Amino acid sequence: MRNQSHFTADATGAIPIHVLTPSMLEASLKGELLAHATWLKACGFRATAGKVQYLPGTDGGVAGVVFGVGRDEDAFQCAALPGLLPDGRYRLATVPAGRSGTMLALAWAMGHYRFSRFKGADKPKDGPVLAWPADADRAQVLRVADGLFLARDLVNMPANEMGPAELAAAALQLAAAHGATSSVIEGRQLLEKDFPLVWAVGAGSTRAPRLIDLRWGEARHPRVTLVGKGVCFDSGGLDIKPSSAMLTMKKDMGGAAAVLGIAHMVMDAKLPVALRVLIPAVENSISGDAYRPGDVFRSRKGLTVEIGNTDAEGRLVLADALAEADAEAPDLLICMATLTGAARVATGFDLPPFFTQDDALAGELSAAAARESDAMWRLPLWRGYGELIESKVADLTNSPGSPNGGAITAALFLERFVEKAKSFAHFDIAAWNDRARPGRPIGAEAQAIRAIFSVLQSRHGRRQ
Ligand code: BES
Ligand code: MN
Ligand code: ZN
Repeated sequence: MRNQSHFTADATGAIPIHVLTPSMLEASLKGELLAHATWLKACGFRATAGKVQYLPGTDGGVAGVVFGVGRDEDAFQCAALPGLLPDGRYRLATVPAGRSGTMLALAWAMGHYRFSRFKGADKPKDGPVLAWPADADRAQVLRVADGLFLARDLVNMPANEMGPAELAAAALQLAAAHGATSSVIEGRQLLEKDFPLVWAVGAGSTRAPRLIDLRWGEARHPRVTLVGKGVCFDSGGLDIKPSSAMLTMKKDMGGAAAVLGIAHMVMDAKLPVALRVLIPAVENSISGDAYRPGDVFRSRKGLTVEIGNTDAEGRLVLADALAEADAEAPDLLICMATLTGAARVATGFDLPPFFTQDDALAGELSAAAARESDAMWRLPLWRGYGELIESKVADLTNSPGSPNGGAITAALFLERFVEKAKSFAHFDIAAWNDRARPGRPIGAEAQAIRAIFSVLQSRHGRRQ
């Protein structure tokens, strides 16, 4: 519970924070902030988004803080506060209508996120502390923030310290923390146990590929299986990426990190589900053992795949993991992956596309995305593009005949390995913020995990 330290149960002496929109400011200058009206006008405070102003106390101290959120369009605007305020104890005195204490506390926690593992002198301090808002669901805030931070940390870790072995260790550590069972199939064992595509992609690296398998919960409960792309570094393989595209490819295990973040939330909330997490963990490297363009492999499912491009490795390792997941006909199968550059072209960094044929699930996801401010957008599994992933020499090619609609053709490829699952959704996430917003610094992001967890909680658990 790393986020617990940002909160306190004791509000005595806490400095009040007034979170204001411009129209709220107008009203409060005649009401609760009347004594500070002259000061705030003199300071030119207009409650524009992100603006903070201190209220002077008669003792020379800080009597309070006003914080502008503009029209309150960003649910996490308050995540800017921990970075702005001096150390001390605070409480939320005024908040915009419709903002729950749970969301505001989550924003506060998110505002404390830094990846500082490799920082020396410059390490951030603990920062200011917030008295729990009365209506905040404390356990929920901590589990969501902890799951989010776990996922971000895994992605932010440089690839030299987060290879397939370290990713497996992180998954096993999470499993142990929650009493889950886990197993790892490693190296050549992948061939014996019939995960040919996981082996093929990972064979080029001196760091052995793995299939990580975590199970938690009672078998009689609904089966929820999460599959995450764990490419710990994607050089592109022999179809090597240009340096600009390779630069951020430590994040190519972002799907794995995301599903581990969700797994933490599910297990912490003890949702009555039979949870399974499958992560193919590999490094896509270049060596004499690397797989080649033109190679053909038989997949776990039996479908043969021609390698058109060694940089389309994600769908290969996921194909075997999805086939394994699908074999036990889960009630819900979710796949998360930093799968295509095309997804970024389609919807940008902020809006990960998701794919499903299950309209009810899509509706629940979109509603949860809005409710939790965890945006995503449905794109079609357009069957008309199916011929683009056909190969002349094998059942499928990993490199579609056209780059257009690349996120869709990648999703169609994955779907070919799913048959029995009652419901299937695939998320093509960037796992990265390319610009800073409150609570979302540049670097790792675990998109869609709060919304997905919210759907699972609505379906299987108590709602707060
Ligand atoms: N990991 C990349 C996709 C990616 C790129 C995700 C940039 C996020 C940001 C993936 O393995 C890849 O290289 N995909 C190729 C597929 C193509 C060769 C069919 C791509 O998107 O260019
Ligand atoms: Mn690639
Ligand atoms: Zn990749």
